[in-house]
Amino acid sequence: MQYADLLIETHDKVAVIRLNRPKAMNALNDNMMNELGDALYKFDADPAIHVIILTGSEKVFAAGADIAAMANYTYADTYPGNYIGRNWEHILNVRKPVIGVVSGYALGGGCELAMMCDFLIAADTAKFGQPEIKVGVTPGAGGTQRLPRAIGKSKAMDMLLTARMIDAQEALNTGLISRVYPADKVMEESLGVAQAIAAMPVTVAMAIKDSVNRAFETTLSEGVRYERRYFHAAFGTPAQKEGMSAFLEKRQPNFDGK
Ligand code: CAA
Repeated sequence: MQYADLLIETHDKVAVIRLNRPKAMNALNDNMMNELGDALYKFDADPAIHVIILTGSEKVFAAGADIAAMANYTYADTYPGNYIGRNWEHILNVRKPVIGVVSGYALGGGCELAMMCDFLIAADTAKFGQPEIKVGVTPGAGGTQRLPRAIGKSKAMDMLLTARMIDAQEALNTGLISRVYPADKVMEESLGVAQAIAAMPVTVAMAIKDSVNRAFETTLSEGVRYERRYFHAAFGTPAQKEGMSAFLEKRQPNFDGK
């Protein structure tokens, strides 16, 4: 897979997609978002891949939507043209786990794209922010919705209204991210996390992802009903037979192909 604005690697069952517009701080433009959708869908459909990592460079995850590209947009370009909606949210359709790995800046649309990942691991150099107010717009890719759900209303309002950035430690303390590693170790550690998930049964990983995401869209009782259906269905899968047999036989499970 060859792209102009992405770099692609695979490590066994883990695919790594790197945002790659170094001269523009990985600013997110139409071409990059089209390519990102294409790469995500290809890996999601590839049975050899179980987990996807989305990352940037050591310096920047992404500094937001491309301001140079949108500066002259009019309402007629954005609303009828479905700016953002037309190509930024493919990641939400991916059914396999997607881990966001953030080093350096994740700002504006970059922070919003990171928040669309299933969970986030950061380098100690990471900085998260929603500075859209400083360029005269509201966030446009879910920042006002996902940030308060992730870190609570007060801190989200503070970040969104003042444009202040938070560092990796504050992001960890608020629950925006799940782990922090030194910058020179973050990719190696994140690959280890991804490989640990990739060794689990992919069918169960996908069901857990789907169930957790349901929690944000429905009531508690409906969410639990949804989870219960997956739990019952698991008893019809080879993964459950292998996992429980391995436990009782005191050996490691082998979920290959399950
Ligand atoms: N769009 C386009 N170009 C960008 C960019 C962006 N979002 N962010 C950085 N760049 C470009 C700069 O214009 C500069 O280009 P030139 O070398 O050609 O001048 C290059 O990247 C390097 O940037 P800086 O010189 O500014 O680097 P720095 O280290 O001094 O600062 C930064 C880094 C703090 C990330 C700063 O670039 C910055 O504040 N960027 C803008 C952040 C922002 O406002 N993001 C929100 C955008 S709106 C949005 O995202 C809408 C939405 O919700 C969907």
